[in-house]
Amino acid sequence: MDSVDPDFEGRVLVVANRVPISIKTTQEGEFEYSMSSGGLVSGLKGLAKAIDFKWFGWPGIDVHRNDKDKVRRHLQDNFNAVPIFLSETLAEMHYNGFSNSILWPLLHRMPDQAGSDERWSKAYQEVNEIFADNIVPYVEDNDMIWVHDYHLLLLPGILRERLSKKKNLKIGFFLHTPFPTEDYFTILPFREQICRSLLLCDVVGFHTNQYAKDFLESARIVLKGVSKSPSDLHWNRRKVIVHGFPLGIEADEWKQKLETDAVKQELANLREEFDDQKIILGVDRLDYIKGIPQKLRAYDRFLTDHPEWVGKVVMIQLAIPTREDVDAYRRLREEVELLVGRINGKHATFKHTPIHYLHRSVKPEQLCALYAVSDVCIISSIRDGLNLVSYEYAACQEERKGVLMMSTYAGAIKTLPPSSVILLNPWDAPRFAERINQALNMGIEERAKRHKEMMHVVDTWTSVKWGKAFLQTMMKMEIPKD
Ligand code: ADP
Ligand code: G6P
Repeated sequence: MDSVDPDFEGRVLVVANRVPISIKTTQEGEFEYSMSSGGLVSGLKGLAKAIDFKWFGWPGIDVHRNDKDKVRRHLQDNFNAVPIFLSETLAEMHYNGFSNSILWPLLHRMPDQAGSDERWSKAYQEVNEIFADNIVPYVEDNDMIWVHDYHLLLLPGILRERLSKKKNLKIGFFLHTPFPTEDYFTILPFREQICRSLLLCDVVGFHTNQYAKDFLESARIVLKGVSKSPSDLHWNRRKVIVHGFPLGIEADEWKQKLETDAVKQELANLREEFDDQKIILGVDRLDYIKGIPQKLRAYDRFLTDHPEWVGKVVMIQLAIPTREDVDAYRRLREEVELLVGRINGKHATFKHTPIHYLHRSVKPEQLCALYAVSDVCIISSIRDGLNLVSYEYAACQEERKGVLMMSTYAGAIKTLPPSSVILLNPWDAPRFAERINQALNMGIEERAKRHKEMMHVVDTWTSVKWGKAFLQTMMKMEIPKD
């Protein structure tokens, strides 16, 4: 294991809503463990291979009193993780309610998708307090606590207060979503508390410097005394660093996975299945921020405008189930499935189905093979913190040099060179359709040039670099160089 820094004597404690594994109970009452999906878990799992840290989080289920030790042991032994147990009602109001029906839509500037219930705010505060109750007994002098994401916005403030006696304690926060402009942020309940809590950190990180700026702008509006200069920012007589730290992936791991027999077998199956056809791939959690209906409409338009492609191209859209108890997600599923049915009905022949829609989670080797076999990957998010799928696709395309189509509304547009991708506006279906045509017709020389440019970033900005850059900034309290 690497150390964060040779001078660092403390320990790193990471806190996120989720631990890397989610638990479900089968009909027989047995526990079923599955990898949690999403960019946060992918990034932290990458970092965990290089840096030793304890990971605190909710296991995704209300565990019966008698089973808690079993879950604790499983998480400790396999992931160096500590479960924080919540009752079903509280978790429902914190996770489905405040976090995913108020914060998530507002952070993505989509208030129309938000719901409301007064009990959710109380549950959110309570869960942040429960997390603190569980973490405080572990904390020692010189530790660094790194809190992640929107489920725990109040936690840094609570920890700072309760741990004021600890010596040289560092607290950091990283947001995995965009930060909205102040007109959206100021809609939020307890916006002052959120800003105060984050400014009690030593370092507050975002995927891009623009999100960092937008946060500071909001903080200045809702709190008095937040200085104008981000390079010399103080709050409550303490220095705070607010900066962009884009997440990355471990590209080498994806490349190595491609060499395994399991992936080779999956690849052979896919090649046989889609012989002679170009493949357009979409990999998204079934979330309204991902712009899946927009992608489907553009594909429909493309097949209508370019009938020469019908029968020669197939779209594989993986829609990973997510937050299925939230109304907005149920509505989205209905909309997407209706569109898939309609478009397949319109363009299918007896021999050919234009969209293969998979509403399920696939195994890592299947995902890797899908990335490698596709000619085009479309990221059509209408808002997205960063988007790691785009990086993973690039990492698996050493051989084919596939084309990445990227929405201008995903954070990764700030990290990947614009000339390496085909930019798209998810709202402009006719042009989006033309871009699909351009991607499918692009020659190998141009594809190779673009792929090289992309990999320059993807190979360099790993999740380990991201984590170390953040932790070292916390340690040294110096603003990182861009
Ligand atoms: P988001 O965090 O919004 O879901 P990202 O594109 O940043 O979007 O991250 C998605 C992550 O989820 C990727 O790292 C991808 O590999 C991962 N993923 C996709 N499918 C699965 C799966 N079945 N199990 C675990 N992780 C998955
Ligand atoms: C995004 C969020 C993460 C979350 C992930 C998956 O990446 O930023 O915090 O873990 O989506 O969503 P879920 O609700 O299943 O944890």
